Amino acid sequence: MGTVMRALSHVVDPRGGPSPAELRAGVAGQIVLVTGASYGIGEATARVLAAAGATVLMVARSQRKLDELAAELTAAGGRAHAYATDLADASSVSALAARALERHGRVDVLVNNAGKSIRRSIACSYDRFHDFQRTIDVNYLGPVRLLLLLLPQMRARRSGHIVNVSTVGTRVPPAPRWAAYQASKTAYDVFLRSVAVEARADRVTTTSIYMSLVHTRMSAPTPVFRRSPGLRPEEAAQLVARAIVRKPRTIAPWWLTPAELIADAARGPLEAAMDILYRLTSDSPEAARR
Ligand SMILES: NC(=O)c1ccc[n+]([C@@H]2O[C@H](COP(=O)([O-])OP(=O)(O)OC[C@H]3O[C@@H](n4cnc5c(N)ncnc54)[C@H](OP(=O)(O)O)[C@@H]3O)[C@@H](O)[C@H]2O)c1
Repeated sequence: MGTVMRALSHVVDPRGGPSPAELRAGVAGQIVLVTGASYGIGEATARVLAAAGATVLMVARSQRKLDELAAELTAAGGRAHAYATDLADASSVSALAARALERHGRVDVLVNNAGKSIRRSIACSYDRFHDFQRTIDVNYLGPVRLLLLLLPQMRARRSGHIVNVSTVGTRVPPAPRWAAYQASKTAYDVFLRSVAVEARADRVTTTSIYMSLVHTRMSAPTPVFRRSPGLRPEEAAQLVARAIVRKPRTIAPWWLTPAELIADAARGPLEAAMDILYRLTSDSPEAARR
């Protein structure tokens, strides 16, 4: 990213994590399960947490990538364990929760980070119901199943924290071509906000991080994102670390609440702007190929 984009990112993106001492005090000895730990934000988060003394349970499908990362973090003096899991597979999620609780006794912090993104117009999706199935499985149903399996013990212990890596897209007017992704991310965001009220009664807390653009393999296929200001995965991981240590209910860019208010007040003009956006943009060749 060029200097101008970095400067712009400093204006529009939330950033900043706890100091090394605050982080260590907050996570040392904690058992933290991070989904989507093989790449991007999740990998960077696992690195930060393991270096600060947490026991990190790393979840994703890529067994070899997780094994290599676990070996690297362990060699550096950390505690990291690979749990190859497909969140879209109910039995795989159940096995993960059972193994994690049996082996480690508890999970103190759940970081719901794994995700699948699809940018494809509805016209290119008529014969692709599986796009909607996959996104809802990975972004909503799998994470719901995992929470159902881990939350009871947290509530019984009257201790625990759940971090959801959500997106600003769940709080601004839906953009064209993102129906599958946005619907599934919004589903979990709303689910957790509702559950949070009940969990707080038993001292289990939640943080929803409304992440703006992060330059990862997820955002890379969208050309406009490659040219836009955004966070590096390591910077996004600092936000996750802040969520774990300070436990705020939300972390979001400064402009998100004003944008929501404006969006409510000016729905008509904004929808007209979306019409223009739709006409000016197109599906990527990969998305259009069916
Ligand atoms: N990048 C952004 O601009 C941005 C913005 C806002 C929010 N977010 C959110 O941030 C989170 C992390 O995204 P990222 O940018 O770091 O993406 P990424 O680099 O593509 O990483 C996604 C992670 O999810 C895992 N995953 C995908 N499908 C899975 C499945 N079926 N079961 C288990 N794990 C699975 C992947 O591992 P395997 O492939 O090994 O399974 C990978 O570790 C996502 O929830 C995303 O919605 C990202």
